[in-house]
Amino acid sequence: MKMRHLMALAAAVLATVSFLLSGVSGFDFYKLSLTWPPSACNIGRECIPYIPGMFTVHGLWPQYANDTPVPPYAQDPTCTTITPTDPSQIPAQLQPIEDRLHENWPSFYPDRTGTRDDPTFWRHEWEYHGMCSDYPNDTLGYFTETLNLAQNNNPLTVMGIQPSDTTLHEVKTILDAVKNKSKVYPQIVCNTLPRVTTLQLVEFRFCFKRAKPPSVLQDCPKKLAGDCKNETDEIRFPPAPPISSIKDEL
Ligand SMILES: *[C@@H]1O[C@H](CO)[C@@H](O)[C@H](O)[C@H]1NC(C)=O
Ligand SMILES: *[C@@H]1O[C@H](CO)[C@@H](O)[C@H](O)[C@H]1NC(C)=O
Ligand SMILES: *[C@@H]1O[C@H](CO)[C@@H](O)[C@H](O)[C@H]1NC(C)=O
Repeated sequence: MKMRHLMALAAAVLATVSFLLSGVSGFDFYKLSLTWPPSACNIGRECIPYIPGMFTVHGLWPQYANDTPVPPYAQDPTCTTITPTDPSQIPAQLQPIEDRLHENWPSFYPDRTGTRDDPTFWRHEWEYHGMCSDYPNDTLGYFTETLNLAQNNNPLTVMGIQPSDTTLHEVKTILDAVKNKSKVYPQIVCNTLPRVTTLQLVEFRFCFKRAKPPSVLQDCPKKLAGDCKNETDEIRFPPAPPISSIKDEL
């Protein structure tokens, strides 16, 4: 009992010291969230016409050890002692890597006028996750490191499965394949294909030890999220719609 209190105190002191040194609060790890566009776009929500068959970036999220996200700066500005870059600066700050961002960090959901709007997505991620990261005043660094992490950690090379319209996979099989290949458990997020109510993989998340830049993988604290509740759940991993079918729709 006493030992536990002592350890808790030591952890609190350590968190405070690191806060004072880094200017950023005591979160525990980063979660790199990658989207599988075919699953995000086949459930009835309006998407942009071109759905790539590759994982794209959703975001890089500072998380506490219990897997809750650090609240956005607007809700709790005590997360950093550094004045973070204002979200209005996002388009100007990201101009040097704009092409790379459009390709790897697209927004699939068009705005009210039906237009693809990637910068609003990037701005949202900055407001909700970037401002309280270890990069509060280095927007370019935060987005560049996130792109690098996504480039160096492709779920397709460790999942042991290929996209298919028909095959179902037990979630546990995928988790174990990733554990075998990358030595860590990811988090798998599912959504549900309407009508047939089949579960499908919509996001794949890698967890990284907190570092600047993050690079060392660790087990994700929670292996399942979204509609997947049990490792015995059977899920699909659908292929991208063929380009020709998109042309037909246009
Ligand atoms: C961020 O803020 C710190 C502390 O105020 C400062 O030392 C550093 O130069 C700033 N970095 C950038 C990229 O502005
Ligand atoms: C993972 O590796 C273990 C031990 O090498 C093996 O028994 C198991 O079948 C592997 N699982 C997967 C899903 O590849
Ligand atoms: C997962 O499903 C299996 C088989 O259907 C069941 O035995 C087990 O209790 C379930 N686990 C949880 C955590 O719900």
